[in-house]
Amino acid sequence: MRVTIVGAGYVGLVTGVSLAVDGHHVTFVEAEVGRRSELTAGTVPIEEPGLAEAFQQHRDSIAVVERIGDAVSDSDFTFVAVGTPISDIGEPDLTQLRSALDGLRDCPAAHVSVRSTLPPGTSLRLPALMGRSSSERISTNPEFLRQGTALHDYRNPTRVVIGRFADTSQEHLERLDELLGALEAPRLRVDVTTAELVKNVANGFLALKLSFVNEVAALSEEYGVDVQDVLDGIAFDPRIGSSYMRPGLGFGGSCLPKELQVLAAAGRRKGIPMHVARAAAQVNMEQQDRFVRQLLRGLPPGGGRVALLGLSFKADTDDLRGSPSIHVARRLMDAGHEVVAHDPAVRPDRARSAAPGIEVVADPLEACDGADAVVIGTEWPLYRELPLERVAARLRQPLIFDGRNIIDPDRAGAAGLTYTGVGRRRVEAARPGDTLVGPRRPED
Ligand SMILES: NC(=O)c1ccc[n+]([C@@H]2O[C@H](COP(=O)([O-])OP(=O)(O)OC[C@H]3O[C@@H](n4cnc5c(N)ncnc54)[C@H](O)[C@@H]3O)[C@@H](O)[C@H]2O)c1
Repeated sequence: MRVTIVGAGYVGLVTGVSLAVDGHHVTFVEAEVGRRSELTAGTVPIEEPGLAEAFQQHRDSIAVVERIGDAVSDSDFTFVAVGTPISDIGEPDLTQLRSALDGLRDCPAAHVSVRSTLPPGTSLRLPALMGRSSSERISTNPEFLRQGTALHDYRNPTRVVIGRFADTSQEHLERLDELLGALEAPRLRVDVTTAELVKNVANGFLALKLSFVNEVAALSEEYGVDVQDVLDGIAFDPRIGSSYMRPGLGFGGSCLPKELQVLAAAGRRKGIPMHVARAAAQVNMEQQDRFVRQLLRGLPPGGGRVALLGLSFKADTDDLRGSPSIHVARRLMDAGHEVVAHDPAVRPDRARSAAPGIEVVADPLEACDGADAVVIGTEWPLYRELPLERVAARLRQPLIFDGRNIIDPDRAGAAGLTYTGVGRRRVEAARPGDTLVGPRRPED
């Protein structure tokens, strides 16, 4: 089929390139000039494993245009994958969605499915926003991919959710089914509001799991136990398990923090307090602040230097949206400290615009030169393998703050580093011949 994808971001590109791999002809409509010109020049503007290679291999069946009308009139199917962020006042910002749908007003015959994540109640307005009196050719198809494994997740979804209106035609659903045909997964055809809530609640539930685990990590620290031992202990219960239960300095990205706010805003409109979602958001902010407070206690009051390893919100992506690591960098610089960062995927100019004043270097060991502490902000695999003796030798103070719990505390201690993780026992730097291992000090 000839498929149009409106919005060449993380979801749009993964969807479009995967459809090109499946043999379809794909046209991306992208509003941002920088992204568009990179794509036109054959470069993928985001970091997602395997995406650039797949894009290159199927470039002949991929086009990039600026205006929706240039693509859609000639298309068999259109997916909308524009951003639906949250505004500064905690309300969903539908500006991108409105502009995309506005562009579709001149294409009344187009088959359109919205893959963007929509707050509950939004889909019912889709026909009006497209200037249509019928929803015959409209559906929603929320995306569940995870950045970092997005191509794999597109190909192996846990479920395919299709939101339909009462009058969505069989022909439209068949076209959508044909496009998604290669995906083997349970298929849910539900009304559009249910489809929205399936997506909102899935993200919200993951977020609250993480916040609960992070709060338990803080509690474990105060009681001098290792949170991992607690989590291992509860994981035996099959009702609890162990997935998505990794403590850290907080979660970020464009989805999980947003979805808690979307749920809170949806509750406000309907008089449901959504206590749990709001508490999970609050805990996530406190978790990041707690980590910064611990870090600040280790730095010289007059202004120190911190090596920050990892800037993206998670490994295997360059996405800085909502990144706890960026939050940490800004807080440190606000407190008068210098931050020297390394990240294997984030472009330095993007790092500098997300955290003005940050220094970016190309080598993690270089970041450690003369620093008063090294901080692990993202769980990139290369940081698991850091040569800790060499790190210790370069630091002015031998302190490591592991915001992702990826370093073995005893290995750090043996290398001469004092280790602080999240909810883990603190390990003091060993002097030659020492093995100083003990619980966290109560004053910490
Ligand atoms: N990133 C994820 O992991 C993920 C996963 C599942 C669902 N989602 C949802 O998918 C949607 C897209 O997320 P994303 O991360 O890909 O966002 P993104 O910001 O990376 O991409 C959106 C793109 O749409 C473009 N755009 C905006 N308005 C446009 C218009 N009128 N015409 C053409 N292009 C336009 C933007 O310039 C941008 O490049 C969001 O609703 C998000 O919540 C994201």
